This record gives sequence, C-alpha cells and structure tokens, in this order.
Amino acid sequence: MTAIGIHDLSLATAHHVVDLGDLATAADVDPAKYRVGLGQDRFSLPSADEDIVTMGASAALPILERHGRDGIRTVFFATESGIDQSKSGGMFAHGLLGLDPRARVVEIKQACYGATAALQAAVALVARAPGERALVIASDVARYDLDSPGEPTQGAGAVAMLVTADPALVEIEPVSGLNAADVDDFWRPNDRTTAVVDGGLSMKAYLDALTGAWDDFRARGGAPIDEIDRFCAHQPFTKMARKALARLARHTGADLDDAMQEATFAYNREIGNAYTASIYAGLAALLDGDADLAGRRIGFFSYGSGAIGEFFTGVVRPGYADHLRPGAVAAELEAREPISLADYRALHAAVSPSDEDSETPRVTRAPFRFAGLRGRARQYERTETR
Ligand code: COA
Repeated sequence: MTAIGIHDLSLATAHHVVDLGDLATAADVDPAKYRVGLGQDRFSLPSADEDIVTMGASAALPILERHGRDGIRTVFFATESGIDQSKSGGMFAHGLLGLDPRARVVEIKQACYGATAALQAAVALVARAPGERALVIASDVARYDLDSPGEPTQGAGAVAMLVTADPALVEIEPVSGLNAADVDDFWRPNDRTTAVVDGGLSMKAYLDALTGAWDDFRARGGAPIDEIDRFCAHQPFTKMARKALARLARHTGADLDDAMQEATFAYNREIGNAYTASIYAGLAALLDGDADLAGRRIGFFSYGSGAIGEFFTGVVRPGYADHLRPGAVAAELEAREPISLADYRALHAAVSPSDEDSETPRVTRAPFRFAGLRGRARQYERTETR
C-alpha cells in the first residue's frame, strides 16, 4: 500500500511575546508555578493586524514556495478561534496564497482536535486519489480572561502541513483509536472572545479521553506500547503531556519515560497554547530537535475539549532530516517583539467581535496582514516587508 502522510510542515506564530516571569511577578505568583508547574516560559500574542488567517497563510507560504501549488485540491482550515460564523478561514487563506480555484476549502471545528480530523480526512482523500495533495492549516489564538487561571496558558500559532502520497517526513498509519464524550469542560459562547473553562474538569476529560482512545486503538490492532518510540500529545501547557504519558504508563503497565517526548516541548513552551496547532507544533519540535527519528514510530494523542480524543501513530521516513528547515522556527521565535504587561493588557481588552468598519495599524512583519473591515467584510493583504 502506498504510504500517505505529512510531506512537509511549517510553523508560524504571532508578532508579540509575553514573558511569563513578568506575568507571575505582576500577579504575585511564584514564577516556578508557570515555568515548572505548567511547563511554560512565554506566549505569543497577535498584533492588531494579525489573526488566525494571517498566521495560517504565513505558515503555509514556505510550503507552497518549496513544493508548488499544483494538485492541491483540498484546503482544510482547522481552528477553534474562528473569525466568522459562516465563511471558512480557509477561503481567505486560499485567496492570499493564490491557490488553484479548482479546490474544496472548508473549516473544521472541534476545539483543539480539529487539525487531527483534518489530517485524517486529508490522508483519506489522498488515499483515494494519490496524485492529489491536500493542505491542512491549523491556526489558533488561545484567549482566556485577564487574571484568570487560564491566562498563563494563552498563546498563538499556526502549523501548515502538506499531505501527500510517499511523504518525505511522516507516514500516518491506518489504525486510529477514538473516544468521544459530551463534556462541558471548555467552550466559547458566540458572544465571547475568551474561552469559558473548567480547568480541573478539562484535565480529567483529557486523561479519560486518552485511556479511552488508547483502548480503542489497541482493540483495532494498533501497535503495542513497546513498539511506540516517541510520544507527541496535545499540549495546552506542556506539563499536561507529562501527565498524559504518566497516565498511559499506569494504564498500560509499561515503563514510559519523559525522554520519549521531551523534544516535543521546545516550541510550545515558547508560543503557549496554539489549540489545534499545538500537537503539530509538538511534532515540528520533535522533528527539528531529535536527530534519531528515521524509522521510529510516534504515538500521537490529539485532544479537543467537549470532548474528543484520538490516538494514532506515524512512522518517520528515512531521509526526513534532509527535508527540514533547521533554524526556521528558532528564527521566527527570536523575531518576536517583547511587549510590556500594560500594552499586553490593552491589546487583550481591545479584541472585540464587532463588525463595524475599521482600519488596523501596520504592525506585523509577517507575509500577510489583517487590514480591518470594509463594508463589514474582513480585508487581508500581503505586507510590503516581504
Ligand atoms: N512551583 C512549582 N510548581 C507549582 C508551584 C510552584 N511554586 N505552584 C504550583 N505549582 C504547580 C501545581 O502543583 C500544579 O501542578 P500539578 O498539577 O502537577 O500538581 C501546577 O503548578 C498548576 O497549579 P494549579 O494550582 O493547579 O493551577 P491553577 O489552578 O491556577 O490552573 C489550570 C491550572 C490548568 C487549571 C489553568 O491554567 C487552566 O484553566 N488552563 C486552561 C485549561 C487547560 O489548559 N486545560 C487542559 C486540558 S485541555
């Protein structure tokens, strides 16, 4: 059977960066609570002229520059921080990226899980028509109320993935374990720009979904635990993935060490929670940070509140390292502009769901920017800096 999976992936994040040490000091909290207790160092914060579309298109652009646009007949845009109730974020991205009009474009939503649904659907479409390619874009801005327990777990980022036959990076294996349960652990009502969350319940729902998905994975013939070499989980904060691996170890009776997933944390510690993109930012960090992956099987656990868990596996392709862009993400992180707490709080408070016409200030240095609303419609443009 032809291998199908991730041929290339690319990460983009936002213009600003907030230091959690500063946030802890201002909140009179021990900084170790954030750095060690949550496993987070900083989070990315979009400027007024950035959003999920600009980050998503910016993540996809280097992939198209490398591999061209031919044969991309599907664009899946996964997000839980959608910018319109009707029009897909993918439609804006499709236009900005100059993709072929002969394409299906759709947005997929189920909290942080949407990108995995998109990836699996893309794999299935390419399996049916191996000459086609699918572009999966996962892009999110995680926003919680100021001064709430969720505040230090905010973040912003996008990962784009090109799904093809005979992929250069990771073959996605066919067996998946699933667990769906209707749980009120996290949601965002239509009139809110921040999530409503029951933090304790969300951690419990995540871990229950993990064991449920694992059991289904094994029942369907998925690889036994001793044939899984690395672990890459959804990271609302990186400590959550440590809890996940510990739970999986208890559940299976296997001795699973955090060394299996340590390399997946590097980018999420910096960008914060990127919701749908988080698990694939973990994969990007693993591919960039672990030199010994060829032929290794990665166990993925994707979770989206509300709640879905999916456990699946991928095998890293021989020669994968030749197809990476070493240093690209590090440069992107380094380029972020630190923002003072006062300015961060003002920017946070200024986000509104209003559809009044407006013009945004020119701030971002990313390839695309959100220019504002005209005739109540969102306007995007290529920036002049690139
Ligand atoms: N040094 C080191 N660690 C410390 C510490 C210190 N001084 N003070 C506290 N900690 C640890 C706690 O022991 C805890 O770790 P543990 O869970 O391994 O025991 C961790 O820091 C968090 O502390 P806690 O008091 O539980 O934090 P909180 O109640 O303020 O909020 C969340 C934590 C996750 C509930 C909150 O950030 C949240 O709601 N996040 C959004 C929802 C989310 O991400 N859910 C995850 C599943 S999708």
